[in-house]
Amino acid sequence: MNGSFDIISEEDVLHAGNEISRLTREKGFSILDRIQIRTAFSELARNMVVHAGGGKVQYTLLDDWGLQLVFEDHGPGIPDIGKAMSTGFSTTKSMGLGLPGSKKLADDFHVVSKPGEGTKITFFRKIRNDQVNNKNEGINNGQRHDFSRGERNG
Ligand SMILES: Nc1ncnc2c1ncn2[C@@H]1O[C@H](COP(=O)(O)OP(=O)(O)O)[C@@H](O)[C@H]1O
Ligand SMILES: [Mg+2]
Repeated sequence: MNGSFDIISEEDVLHAGNEISRLTREKGFSILDRIQIRTAFSELARNMVVHAGGGKVQYTLLDDWGLQLVFEDHGPGIPDIGKAMSTGFSTTKSMGLGLPGSKKLADDFHVVSKPGEGTKITFFRKIRNDQVNNKNEGINNGQRHDFSRGERNG
């Protein structure tokens, strides 16, 4: 299953985030996975608004496997990706945690950027197999969710 969102404003980030939250619930991602995916989504989508004047997000949900998000914009690009990926680096005097934080929340993450042309960031997050099998169990049935199962390493 796949689709895309045009992201121009912070309002768009919010609405698309709601949709991502809904889709990941339908696919059986755990609450923890969904919160972390949405966090990364919000940071990377908001970066497009703040630093690039908007862009597009394409999502691909792979059954029983994971979610890929591709953020693409035609903004100014990132001249030094290594620097931009380091904790606390910001050209807008904000927290500088969006890129490094999103990378930590991903199973696979990469940035391609050309100054003057734009930026493309690919985020991939696996779904844990035990969560796929339990998609109708857990919190929805009033059972306690076991956060020790399927939790990410590091
Ligand atoms: N889509 C983008 N286009 C251009 N520059 C970007 C983009 N995303 C991030 N950057 C650059 O990388 C820096 C670090 O991003 P981030 O870690 O999210 O911190 P913050 O957004 O708080 O500045 C930004 O300050 C900006 O210079
Ligand atoms: Mg940011």
